[in-house]
Formats: sequence, C-alpha cells, structure tokens
Amino acid sequence: MTTENVMSTVIDGKAFAAKVRSRIAAQVAEIKKQGVTPGLAVVLVGEDPASQVYVRNKGKQTIEAGMQSFEHKLDASTSQADLMALVDQLNNDDSVHGILVQLPLPDHIDEEVVLNSINFDKDVDGFHLTNVGRLSIGAEGIVPCTPLGSIMMLKDHLGDLSGLNAVVVGRSNIVGKPMAALLLQENCTVTIAHSRTKDLPEVCKAADIVIAAVGRPEMVKGDWIKPGATVIDVGINRLDSGDGKTRLVGDVDYAGASSVAGAITPVPGGVGPMTIACLLHNTMQQCCRLNGLEIPQA
Ligand code: GUN
Repeated sequence: MTTENVMSTVIDGKAFAAKVRSRIAAQVAEIKKQGVTPGLAVVLVGEDPASQVYVRNKGKQTIEAGMQSFEHKLDASTSQADLMALVDQLNNDDSVHGILVQLPLPDHIDEEVVLNSINFDKDVDGFHLTNVGRLSIGAEGIVPCTPLGSIMMLKDHLGDLSGLNAVVVGRSNIVGKPMAALLLQENCTVTIAHSRTKDLPEVCKAADIVIAAVGRPEMVKGDWIKPGATVIDVGINRLDSGDGKTRLVGDVDYAGASSVAGAITPVPGGVGPMTIACLLHNTMQQCCRLNGLEIPQA
C-alpha cells in the first residue's frame, strides 16, 4: 500500500492496516461459524491520558473486527497483588485469548513481574520472557505488535529482504531488539545502533533499511539516509506547536529524509495504525492455537 510522492514513496500504514483488519474480520466471521469468538482483554491501571486513548482505540477496533472486547479499568492505587489476581482470572477464562496490560504501570507495580504472570499463550504483546526467547531462537511464538507491523510493511513494499543492510536505531525491549530479531529472520545484515554508537550518521548511511525507534523527535536527518533507502519511522513524539496545540512527529526528520529515501512511513499514518492491526492479528492467531483450529484462509 503505497502512494507516489514527487520525492519518495510514502508507505501508507493507515491503508495497509485497514486491509489487514478487514482480512482479520473475515477470519473472525469464519471461526465464529465453528462456535468460537476471539476475545481480547485489555487492562488499564490509572488514568494516563495517552493510555486511555490507546485503550479506547483498541476496544473499538476489536469490536469492529467482530471479536469480544473485555476492558478492565483499575484505580491508580490498585495493588500489584490485586492486578495479578485479575491477570490470573483472565488466564483462566476460556473466552479470553489475548491479554494486554497497558504500559506504563504506576511506579509501585513491578512491570516485569506482572507481564510474566500472563499466560504466555495469551500474551498478545509478545513481552513475556517465553515469547522473547522464542523470537530470539526463531521458534513459533507471539511477536510484539509494532515490530511485526513494521516488518509486514517492509515486506509488502520491498518483497524479499534477504541480504539487505538494516540499521535499527534504538535498543528497547519493545521495539529495537525484537525488530532486529525479525530482520535477522528475513536474512538481513542487522546493526543495532543506539545513543552510544559512534558515527551514527555514517552507520545509518550504509543502510538499505533504517528503522528509527529511539524516542527522540526528528533525530534521524535526511543526510543520514542513503539515496533510495527504505525508512520506517516508529517514533511518536508530541511537540508543542507554539499555539497552545501539539503536533505529532516521528524520530525521523520527515521533510529532510523524504527527499532522499526511496520510501518512508509518515507520522502519523505509518507504523502507528499497524500496531493495533497486529494486536488483532495476534489475538486471532492465539484464539486458533488455543482452540486447536487452523487459521481460516480469508
Ligand atoms: N503502551 C504503549 N504501547 C504499548 C504496547 O504496545 N503494549 C502495551 N501493553 N502497552 C503499551
């Protein structure tokens, strides 16, 4: 799903995500005929405004895909023990095939302990250590949504990624590391760069594929990009636009990079919409696995 621009091709994540969601909706309709409805439970602790928006969008798109959505909103003062009791209840609920605990959690809760208490076959975020390990050895498991959406867009745009040089800027557990593992599975030559990398512009300039996932607004500049390279911008940064409003920018200086890259994802409308589409994909996949069913071809 791409549109030509005078400069580079803009990879339209919004259109691609809509296509993925409609395929999933068709699969859900098929599996419902076998008496199974995929169910996704989302747990929100506290009232972080950005998290509230994400959770609302997840619930809406889950229902639009024909799945069951279970939303659990807990007070910010909820104890770790109470949160884990809820996770345990969801682990044992056969109508729930995916569990997502929205991050960040309040400071008094140990995120790692909570995430690892989720049944790893319902861990649709792919954050459980078992799924992290499975991905690192290339075994079948659950892949984190943002890297999965990014690799889907890359393959849709470039086809075979074998032998390409890929640079991932950022080494987070949520994006950078799983992204590198997925690129390696696609036979790319992968470099993980980060804040201590020497000559970062030169490292990026050697890449056929640049994944920007550092969380710093517009850090990756146009003259860091090899002409014709494909740029995937995972960043979502809210900048004050001076008139009391905010605007969203990525980790890439879009104006600069889009005059050099062969193809680039915009922010908003690039990787962002693919994340929820992949959450629905993971929920559908796990619903089939948990019920011993084939994923319907739809
Ligand atoms: N907070 C921001 N992004 C995510 C995500 O992908 N998963 C979860 N669980 N929390 C988030």
